Amino acid sequence: MKTVAFVNIKGGVAKTASVTSVAHILATQYNKRVLMIDLDPQANTTARFSNINVYERLERKLHGDIRSIDNSISDLLLNRNMDVHNCIRKTVYQNLDIIPSDLQLGDVQDRIKADVTVPPQFRLKGHIKKIESEYDYCIIDCAPSVSIANVNGLAVCDEAYIPTTTDGDSLEGVAYALDLIRTVKDYNDKLEISGCFFTRWENQGVPKMAYELLEEMVPGVLLPFKMYKSKLIGEGSYLNLPLLIADKKKTVSKLTTNYLHLTEFIMADNKEEYLKQYDEERNVYLTLEQIIGIEQIESEVEQELQEDIKKNGICEPITVVKQGKEYLLVDGKKRCKVQEKLISDGIWDKYRPIPAKIAER
Ligand SMILES: Nc1ncnc2c1ncn2[C@@H]1O[C@H](COP(=O)(O)OP(=O)(O)OP(=O)(O)O)[C@@H](O)[C@H]1O
Ligand SMILES: [Mg+2]
Repeated sequence: MKTVAFVNIKGGVAKTASVTSVAHILATQYNKRVLMIDLDPQANTTARFSNINVYERLERKLHGDIRSIDNSISDLLLNRNMDVHNCIRKTVYQNLDIIPSDLQLGDVQDRIKADVTVPPQFRLKGHIKKIESEYDYCIIDCAPSVSIANVNGLAVCDEAYIPTTTDGDSLEGVAYALDLIRTVKDYNDKLEISGCFFTRWENQGVPKMAYELLEEMVPGVLLPFKMYKSKLIGEGSYLNLPLLIADKKKTVSKLTTNYLHLTEFIMADNKEEYLKQYDEERNVYLTLEQIIGIEQIESEVEQELQEDIKKNGICEPITVVKQGKEYLLVDGKKRCKVQEKLISDGIWDKYRPIPAKIAER
């Protein structure tokens, strides 16, 4: 299991948007077994995958009903004898589970400090060890603070990602996060800072100073995936929908495209190589409806390829040439045929994105 945390000490920089998008893409586009852990008492990730709609949640809160939930991350942090499985909830999505949070997480800090039997930063570690073989990825949503819960998350983490907007306050949050990660690295030496990326991006200029400072703090840390500003995230928060579901259209949005790239980057064995080959203009995602030239194909697809794609998704991009608003298929006919079949069998959605490389004419 690879454990990944999204962290920035500044609030509102799209940690939750990133966690919910990436975890859901890993589970549904790439069929990975994914566990999300919500370490924020605001419990926004928990809410996104809850079966209680936003209006009901609002109404309860407006009436002062802020009841805590049973078997949440708080219980896990407080009780080392608890069976972690009791805290894991299934979501409606295949392969995607969550350990939920609630407001009481804000109060556990003192109780953790009072119990000296387990070091305060290792309250999660024992639990996570027990489920390591049950998941491919554990994706952690951190709170915008230097909390004991965040420290526990980072203490079990392999990779930390830092989302940030371009304003000065958020970049200060990055600096705090980097400092926290370095401190936790003293007792979790596998922890790596895998990248920082801009969110709510509107092609705004980033002051040169900010780039230089970031580069100075962690050389090469800035990833090229820009998370464009889009109303899809806000809509998803009303409808309890992760990005990929909120964005079911003929054309894959730029935001979804870049979250798909970030997810592939997280999965990549060789991250340097992934970045070398990445080109924002040419590496795209298309739906089957945008691709022309498939209908003339009469090729038998081997059972083995079908099974592989059904199991792992299409990982190798197809090649296309742009023709007006459409894309002519150049290479990848068998992959497209499998996608077509899985859609007609009702296994995949018709707007499922296909990775594609746009070739020069
Ligand atoms: N790409 C985007 N386009 C438009 N709005 C976005 C985007 N990403 C996030 N948002 C919005 O920005 C706000 C903050 O996002 P989010 O809750 O994911 O941040 P966060 O870092 O988890 O915040 P907190 O620190 O409070 O937990 C939300 O209102 C969310 O809907
Ligand atoms: Mg959040």
